[in-house]
Order: sequence, then structure tokens, then C-alpha cells
Amino acid sequence: MKMHLDVLYSVRMRAAKSGRHVSGAERIVLEKDIASVAAELVSRAGGRHNTPDSIVVTIERISTDEIHILSSLDVATVNEYDPDSSRRAAICILRQAGVSEQAAMRAIVALSHGPAPWGGNMRGAMIMDADTGERLEPDQGRGIRASKFDWTMDSAVELDKLLRNAGLMHFRTREALALATKVAHGPGVIAEICWSDEPDYTAGYVASLSAGYVRFPMMKPRGSEYGGRAFFVKRGGLELHALIRYLEDEPVLITAPKQFKTFSCSDEYFRAVSTYKIAPDIVKSQ
Ligand code: COA
Ligand code: AMP
Repeated sequence: MKMHLDVLYSVRMRAAKSGRHVSGAERIVLEKDIASVAAELVSRAGGRHNTPDSIVVTIERISTDEIHILSSLDVATVNEYDPDSSRRAAICILRQAGVSEQAAMRAIVALSHGPAPWGGNMRGAMIMDADTGERLEPDQGRGIRASKFDWTMDSAVELDKLLRNAGLMHFRTREALALATKVAHGPGVIAEICWSDEPDYTAGYVASLSAGYVRFPMMKPRGSEYGGRAFFVKRGGLELHALIRYLEDEPVLITAPKQFKTFSCSDEYFRAVSTYKIAPDIVKSQ
């Protein structure tokens, strides 16, 4: 759905140290909130262990004619604490979404060893053919970055309550869920897999419109410095340029999820998904 809204601004922060990106975050806000939100993002740029050399804040008016209003993916947490079991379950979920086992494996191998051509982390996501695992992003070091998304103002309070009740208070979950929702609605996208490259942040997820956002607390062993994202696409009818433009440039506001579920292990999850379907009312908005 696209709708007309008040004047809105994209506020984006990125911080770097010794030429390396160390943190980034973004919001979509009313003009009156620009200063406070920019200050809040800047305060997130640093930290005890990370004193950045540069903090760049970009404030840009966005075209409200283009705004998509999307329903959030619903959330399932699968409390599997072994990375191998979590990845096996992730592959099953990707297969249910239409990704071949070969493509899912290729993504997992790339994320485990660093998907950039030099073997390190990328600056964005891989775009992967869901059948063959072929990589389609124009630059395999940069990848594609989803940007210009936020929660609607009305949904923020409800979302925080849901996250608190589910014990998911880390700001990353809030942001990753928004990012995954934007990606899942991308024209041609059928699923995503992600885990962070931060050595201490072991959680990851797989996401699709049908499965929702399925979070695993241990998608990688603690201490691993490799991670990233793969967006799986169906090649037939894919307009890669339109997808990249959507992901990078088209603004998206997201309404709160309706369901948060927790499962004690992947067996319990798979038993349950055969009897209920997450987010039955979500349809592609374009
Ligand atoms: N990793 C590494 N480098 C990054 C980066 C990232 N995530 N984001 C930006 N950079 C660096 C790159 O050098 C980039 O140049 P490139 O385009 O050649 O790669 C440069 O900064 C400029 O990037 P740009 O995208 O133009 O910056 P921006 O100020 O418009 O937006 C972010 C920066 C970080 C806000 C945006 O890219 C982003 O990732 N938004 C999503 C944030 C979020 O919610 N993430 C959820 C994670 S759980
Ligand atoms: P993070 O979730 O910030 O730890 O990022 C994990 C990985 O996701 C990074 O190493 C990048 O490869 C990729 N990434 C970071 N930001 C984005 C983005 N905005 N869109 C797509 N991929 C991203």
C-alpha cells in the first residue's frame, strides 16, 4: 500500500574507525523530530570500545508519494543453542520458502567464511539466485544495502511491548526485523538469511513472507568474526535494477507485528508450523 503522509525525513548515521565501518542506524521522522533523533543516533555511534574517527549523519527529505506502508513479518524465536542445528533448521525453512538446498548451502558457506571476494565481510547483502545460488549483486564486496525504513509512529509503542514480552530487548532485533520486513516485500525476493559479523552477537534469522521472521539465538559460534546477509530471489521475471532501487531508495514504514511465538527447539517449531501459519494476511505490496 502507498499513502500520502506529512513531510518526512530520512535520518541516517554511519560511524567509522581507521577506515572501517563500526556502526550505522537510521530512522524516518517528522521535521520537528530531526534534531532529537539525529542526536540519539550520534549517541549510538560510539561506545566504550569504539571511539569512532568519523560520524556522518545524513538528513534527507523523502518523497512521501513513494512511501510503502508494510505489515511487519511476525516473529518466531527458536531456542536452539547449537549453530549446526540452527543452520539445519534454517535450511529447512528456506526450502519451504522455495530456496533450493544448493542455494541455501552456498549462502551458509559464504557467510561462514566471509562472502566478499577477498574472504572478508561485505558492506551489504548478497543477492542470490534461489535455485542455483549464483550471486547477482553487481559488486560482491559492497553488496546491496537496504535503507530508508522505520516503524510507523503508531506502531512503536506496541512493538516495544511485544519485544519486551518476548525478552527481545536488544535494539538490533527491532532494527533487523524492520530491515527483514522491507526485504521480504522486495519484488522478486522470496527469503533472507542473516547473521551478524560481530564476534559477540551470535543471533541470526531466516525470513520470508510465509515463514515470518524466524530468529535463532546461536546461528554462529561465539567469537566468529564472519557474517552477512543473503537475499534469495527468483530469476524468472526478476528486474534486478527495480529490486535494488526498492531496497536502497524507496521509503518504507512498517506497522507492528501481530504474533510473537517462542519455541524451545526446532522440532517444536516444525511441529507447530504444520498446524498454524504465521502472518496469513501478509501479501506482497507490489
Ligand atoms: N558496512 C560497511 N560499510 C558501510 C555500511 C555497512 N553496513 N554502511 C555504510 N558503509 C560505508 C561504506 O563505505 C559506504 O560506501 P559504499 O556505498 O561504497 O559501500 C559508505 O559508508 C556510504 O554508505 P551509504 O549507504 O551511502 O551511507 P548512508 O549514510 O546513506 O547509510 C547506513 C548508512 C549504515 C544507515 C545504511 O547503509 C544502513 O545500513 N541502514 C540500515 C541500518 C540498520 O537498521 N541495520 C539493521 C542491522 S541489525
Ligand atoms: P549487522 O546486522 O549490522 O551485524 O550486519 C551484518 C551484515 O549484514 C554485514 O556484514 C553486511 O554484510 C550486511 N549488512 C549490513 N547492513 C546492511 C543493510 N543495510 N542491508 C543489507 N545488508 C546489510
